[in-house]
Formats: sequence, C-alpha cells, structure tokens
Amino acid sequence: MKAKGEKVSDKSKIILEKLARLHQIKDLHSLLDNILYESRVLTNADAGSIFLVENNRLKFSYIQNDTIFKNDILCNKYIYANHEIEVDEKSIAGYVAKTGEPLIIDDVYHIDKRAPYSFNAYFDEISTYRTKSMLVVPLKTMKGEVLGAMELINSLNKAGKPIPFSLDYQLVVVQFANYATLAIERAFILRDMVFKMIKLSEMRDPEETQEHVERVSTYAIEIYQKWAEMHNVDKAEVAYYKDILRIATMLHDIGKIGIPDTILKKKAGLNEREYETIKFHTIYGAQLFQNAKSDWESMASEIVMNHHEKWDGTGYPGKIPDINAEDISIEEGKKGAEIPLSARIVALADVYDALINQRVYKSPWEEDKVLYFMKEQSGKHFDPELVAVFFEIYGTINAIRNRWHKPVPNPDRE
Ligand code: C2E
Ligand code: SIN
Ligand code: SIN
Ligand code: FE
Ligand code: FE
Repeated sequence: MKAKGEKVSDKSKIILEKLARLHQIKDLHSLLDNILYESRVLTNADAGSIFLVENNRLKFSYIQNDTIFKNDILCNKYIYANHEIEVDEKSIAGYVAKTGEPLIIDDVYHIDKRAPYSFNAYFDEISTYRTKSMLVVPLKTMKGEVLGAMELINSLNKAGKPIPFSLDYQLVVVQFANYATLAIERAFILRDMVFKMIKLSEMRDPEETQEHVERVSTYAIEIYQKWAEMHNVDKAEVAYYKDILRIATMLHDIGKIGIPDTILKKKAGLNEREYETIKFHTIYGAQLFQNAKSDWESMASEIVMNHHEKWDGTGYPGKIPDINAEDISIEEGKKGAEIPLSARIVALADVYDALINQRVYKSPWEEDKVLYFMKEQSGKHFDPELVAVFFEIYGTINAIRNRWHKPVPNPDRE
C-alpha cells in the first residue's frame, strides 16, 4: 500500500542508526574512518578516501578500497601515505574543500574541459586500481568551517561495474555528513583538550612533541588491531577499543607535568635519585584519572599507571596500595598478564619511539640496533606475543613513523 513511504522511512531509520553509532565514537580518526565506511555503504561505493585540512593543506588521511585491500593490514600502509595537496580549485578534493560544495563526476578520465580541477591519478598509478565515478562531499562543521573532503569512488551496480553516483546518493551523503558534523565537532573538542593537556606537560619536556604522541598512539592501535585479529575479537569491540585506546595513549606521559624541569630537561644521564623521581610520573598520571567518568578515562588511567611495567616483573611502579597516600614508595613490578593489555602495548610502542628518535638525553639509535633490542627484550621488557605482532606489521609501523616524522629543527624555537 504505502510501499514508497515505508522505503523512505526505512532509509531514514538506517541513517539515524548509523548516526547514533557515530555519536558513540570519541576519537577523530576512528570517527572519520567510520563516516567514510558508512557513506560507502549508503552509496555502494567500492572505495573512498578522506582528506583532512592540516596547516591549510589537504592531507590524504584515509583510504578504503574493497577491490584492492581484502585485508585491513595491507591497507594501512596506504592509510599512512604522506601525500598532501593544496586547498585550491586545481584538484578535485581541493575544489570541494575550497568551495564547500559537493561534486559528482561520472568519469574522472573524461572531466569537462571547462572544469578548473583535474584528476590526480597518483593512487591509480601506485596501484592497479582504476577510478571512474566519484562523489565528493565537504566535511563541514556547523559553523561552516571545512575540515576536509570525502571522496567516494566507483559506485557499483549489481554486476559490480562502476556507474555514476546519482543525485539521490549525493543528497543522502551530504545529509549524513552534515549530521555527522556534530560528532566531528565533539571529537575535535576532546582532541583539542587532550592536546592542550599534552602541551602543558610538553612545556616541561621539550622532546615530547605532538608527533611523538601521534606516532605512539597510532602504533598502539595498529598493534592492537593485529593482536585482536589473531584473537578473533569481535569487530565492533575492536573498533571501540581502538577508538578509546588512541586517546588514552596520547596521554601516557601526562604525569610528567609533576616532574621538575631540572630532571626532565637534563641532557646527561640521571643519577639514581633523579630516576627514582621520574618514576613517579606514572603515579601522578594515575592521580589525574582516578575519578574516571568514561571508558577512555579508565583506559588512560590504566596506561599512565602501567606503561613502564615490564613483562618479566622488573618494571615500575608496581602495585601501589593507595595512589593518594602521603608517602608512596615504588613497589616490585607487576608481571605478565597482571599488566593490562593496553599498557603492554603502549610500553612497546613508547620504547620503540624513544629509541628510534632523538631525546634530550640521547641520540637516535640506528634502526638495526632498535629492532635487535626489541627482539632481544621479547619476554623481558615486552610481551612476546606483542613483539611478534610488531614485527608482523613493521611495514605499517614504518609508514606511521614517516607520516609523523619530526619536523625540521626550527631555529626560532628555543
Ligand atoms: P622516554 O624518553 O619516553 O623513554 C621511555 C622508555 O624508553 C624509557 O623508560 C626506557 O624504557 C626506554 N628508553 C629510552 N631511552 C633508552 C635508552 O637509551 N636505552 C634503553 N635501553 N632504553 C631506553 P624509563 O627508563 O623508565 O624512562 C622514563 C622517562 O624518564 C623517559 O621517557 C624520560 O622522560 C626520562 N628519562 C630516562 N632516562 C633519562 C635521562 O638519562 N635523562 C633525562 N633527561 N630523562 C630521562
Ligand atoms: C582508525 O583510526 O580506526 C582508522 C585508521 C586505522 O585503521 O588505523
Ligand atoms: C617520551 O618519549 O614520552 C618523552 C620524550 C622525552 O622524555 O624526551
Ligand atoms: Fe613514561
Ligand atoms: Fe613517551
């Protein structure tokens, strides 16, 4: 009878359910990843990517492609590709970000000559993929600030052949993206807050850059993802855990805010007393998160407290009966599975990053030496299973390292 009406309300119901799920997501990266995925489902798009505005340029941030990547891990090497374009009319994503208007292109290899933009075949060239149709929408906040652009690629018909995106699809995706902006804005606020907290501790710890924090948290989610695959963890749980793990990991060293500059900035090695003092950054961090009101804060508390524990029990701070006591002493370390998985992952990611990069107190180590150390510490400092995962995804780890490499030293920075 009212088949048509039902169809429409079914569609809105699906969109509402998708939006409800989106609003659960805390981390900006997971959120955008999810928006891309759901938009592809809505339009039957074989592939897609997201470009985010960073320092007035569009940075290639995510890619999903059902044809090329049957396997998530392979995909991640491309996810972290370091590829930037200008926000201007010359490229497709640049045009959409600049104008803030969506765009449908039926065949990127036959774009109207009058159009100011042209197709950049970069990805088709580095892969065997053939891009044909595209739907590109801006990602805008409520205030109209453009955060990036989303490209949906090759809408497939029943026979699996790429066909043009319909205007209907454009309407649906634009609407979906518009409602999703609320979640994006919230994720931005949380991210901003996290960065501000990190900045406060960074002022004291000059080498603790935003890049370090991005790298360590991204290594962590990739290590977790592979670990979870091996343990057949449910997909929804993996997505949720990755989401909160990234934010929680960013804050792993927030407790350094309580450590005197004279120790943190010391170029030479630390004496025993100084090193004992630094160990308290784990407890100071745990004090900050003791009244955790959300899952990500609970995980942050787990990580700040336990990221210097070692698998063989020789780490710190150990089991502290009362983190608020007047007189706390560092106890015998926790061991093996007593250490939460999140903290075991961060321990490995943090040490790898500390060794392969420069610190105020040390030069970068050669890659061979770092990798030898990581192997050698399997079962000692690190959970052996996680070391195995680390080597299995080393291609991705490397891509992440390049994506957030240390900026060239700026002589203006003191
Ligand atoms: P961090 O710089 O983030 O280092 C994290 C962890 O990486 C260290 O935890 C340690 O397990 C590993 N690591 C870093 N550099 C080396 C190294 O040269 N050799 C080896 N074998 N492992 C290394 P750890 O030792 O508990 O230190 C915690 C934090 O204390 C460090 O965080 C850093 O902020 C500070 N720290 C440690 N040693 C020194 C030092 O000699 N001078 C200064 N200024 N700070 C230090
Ligand atoms: C995400 O943050 O979940 C998307 C990127 C990734 O899979 O690493
Ligand atoms: C860190 O790696 O977490 C801190 C860097 C530093 O202490 O130099
Ligand atoms: Fe630490
Ligand atoms: Fe660290």
